[in-house]
Amino acid sequence: MPNVIAIDGPAGSGKSSVSLALARRLGYLFVDTGAFYRAITWLALQRQIDPHNSARVAALARQAHLDMHPRPSADPPYTFLADGQDITAQLHTPEVDAYVSVVAANADVRAAILDAQRQLAKRGRVIMAGRDIGSVVLPNADLKIYIDATLDERARRRYRQRLAEGKAADLEAIREGLRARDQLDSSRDVAPLTRLPDAVYLDTSHMSLEEAVEAAYRIVTSHDCADNARA
Ligand code: DC
Repeated sequence: MPNVIAIDGPAGSGKSSVSLALARRLGYLFVDTGAFYRAITWLALQRQIDPHNSARVAALARQAHLDMHPRPSADPPYTFLADGQDITAQLHTPEVDAYVSVVAANADVRAAILDAQRQLAKRGRVIMAGRDIGSVVLPNADLKIYIDATLDERARRRYRQRLAEGKAADLEAIREGLRARDQLDSSRDVAPLTRLPDAVYLDTSHMSLEEAVEAAYRIVTSHDCADNARA
């Protein structure tokens, strides 16, 4: 079985839900790296630092003490601490959503948190999800999976999720927000979201969550780690 699994893909592809369900099934640790960028974004907004001010945001990322504690059965499956404060509930607010791509495009921010992500992977039996896990954070991962879905389908999923949470939702606005984030995440200079040739491609557009998890599970259990060693 692959010990370290890297999962990348765009927002709303099902990457986090699939990774979490897969981690529970395998008894692996799930690390959602987007939470690091969200934490720094939240800290910047909290301290009234303009997210576009790259030098100040990078200084903040270097100073902040960020800690992710797994809580596999909780939702989200971790507690996230920034300088000792539990900010888990703050990470998915619309304000953070609006600025996180700008913060994630900051090369110095990415450099500041790289080591923390690699340290988490050293525990082994880990599934790490994000945008640059296979390309930058864990280029030697035993298995890389790229999870994808069409923009329309990803927008519909987010829309249904918001309605299920009892929140107001506008399908067109969600679609436009995802399109803008895709554009920023894939076109930035540093660690852009890319589909790597050595990643197994999983298109979940026509799959339920259960079907996507099953497909990912089959990819993991049929993977021959020797392939990576030969590549
Ligand atoms: O997966 P998410 O929606 O929580 O990610 C939040 C933002 O962080 C998104 O703009 C992509 C970015 N991100 C990244 O650049 N690299 C990662 N490894 C994870 C997330």
